[in-house]
Amino acid sequence: MALIVGMLSVVRPLLCTWAGLPDAAFWWKERATCCKVRARRFGSQRQLVVVEPSSTAGVAVLKLKNLPVNSFSLEFLTELIINLEKLENDKTFRGIIITSDCPKAFSAGVDLREICGKNPAHYTEYWKVLQDLWLRLYLSNLVLISAINGPCAAGGCLIPLTSDYRILADNPKCLIGLNETRLGISAPFWFKDPLVNIIGHRASEHALQLGLLFPPAEALQVGIVDKVVPKDQVQSTALSVMTQWLAIPDHARQLTKNMIRKPTADLLVKHRDTDIQNFVSFISRDSIQKSLQMYLAKLKQNKD
Ligand SMILES: *[C@@H]1O[C@H](CO)[C@@H](O)[C@H](O)[C@H]1NC(C)=O
Repeated sequence: MALIVGMLSVVRPLLCTWAGLPDAAFWWKERATCCKVRARRFGSQRQLVVVEPSSTAGVAVLKLKNLPVNSFSLEFLTELIINLEKLENDKTFRGIIITSDCPKAFSAGVDLREICGKNPAHYTEYWKVLQDLWLRLYLSNLVLISAINGPCAAGGCLIPLTSDYRILADNPKCLIGLNETRLGISAPFWFKDPLVNIIGHRASEHALQLGLLFPPAEALQVGIVDKVVPKDQVQSTALSVMTQWLAIPDHARQLTKNMIRKPTADLLVKHRDTDIQNFVSFISRDSIQKSLQMYLAKLKQNKD
């Protein structure tokens, strides 16, 4: 929480109009105001996160829209956290379906431009915000369902791994997994822990060390996703699964979720400063910066 407060200096212009939200209509009107404020602040009209009410009462659809592949820029992460926080505090919502509004990917994870060629203070801020997002998602009182309609690699798995349920589109391009080791880096323990909680120790050992990316059938078999459906049914399936989850009284479900997840979340809360220090000193190494630069250059070349 302290870190969210720390972030407020950055995001205060976005938050100022968001205090106290008596009803949904008011919210949507305020959102429009916020967008103008943000547009001024970031000098763009882009809206990176779109929140819409769904056809089911109490369920919001949150669409990730940081083109082209929803990589986690600092601006995108900040906007995501603000939207989640607002949904969390809005009593009209009990569940969120998170999906991508980018045709090419669900999420590509960490934006390498945020961790390459910048200074330690920037890396520190970036990693804190990423941890904040993880904590907000992992301990959310809402039911979170990931409707994974595109590839989802490395840090892109953050949202699915912290959700309550994962639905993957049945398309060979829709690979999912933590492939960090292939880039010569290791996934942080707070990515490893939820993976272990979901697919078990041995399967995690295997998947993490080899940096495996699972196509849909294998993803289902190993249990990193709960359901695989044709791409055009991802959204409707998410809504019908959500209805099952919402049939359970919130209070009992929330207590149970917290009971199961708190020990894992506490590890991050307790070790987050050390984790930041480790990350910053690792990423600042010349050898790592060099390999990131080479990887970025390769990505750029492929694009041209
Ligand atoms: C991880 O997987 C994604 C999706 O296939 C791919 O774009 C990315 O290049 C991979 N990263 C590494 C380092 O292999």
